[in-house]
Amino acid sequence: MAEETLEKRRGFLVGSIAAMMGTISAALGLPALGYLLVPGREKKKSDWIEAADLSKLMVNQPEQIIFNRVRRDGWKLVTEKAAAWVVKTGEQQVVAFSPVCTHLGCAVSWNSGDKTFACPCHTSSFSPDGKVIAGPAPRPLDRFDVRVDGIKVMLGDVKKSAEG
Ligand code: FES
Repeated sequence: MAEETLEKRRGFLVGSIAAMMGTISAALGLPALGYLLVPGREKKKSDWIEAADLSKLMVNQPEQIIFNRVRRDGWKLVTEKAAAWVVKTGEQQVVAFSPVCTHLGCAVSWNSGDKTFACPCHTSSFSPDGKVIAGPAPRPLDRFDVRVDGIKVMLGDVKKSAEG
């Protein structure tokens, strides 16, 4: 009789341990499975930032635009100020350059006298279409993706320019 009770207790303990192991495995495995199976975050229309009013831009007159953007940093969404040099090149055409010099990252500014973007750190200069004119900068200014929506100038991600 005592042997039978001991056997029942052993069976109960083994069953309890198996149930706990199953619960722990599900708790750890489901989030990992979700991470693997849920597709990556796609760029949505809302990721475009309304940065400028097209009707207020002058043709071939770069305008520095400061705007707020939301950046994902791990699990957090961080709102930060960003800048772009926006150039209206035609009635409905706009290009937007990153203000970050491609040499070591100083901020470039527009020099209306000689019509170049100038970097104050090591004197790189860039033409109005972002190409390197002088200095150590290894490549043209990076460009934002740009979309014109009516009179709204919308900016997307910055695309790294090619060497040269
Ligand atoms: S950081 Fe602009 S030239 Fe060096």
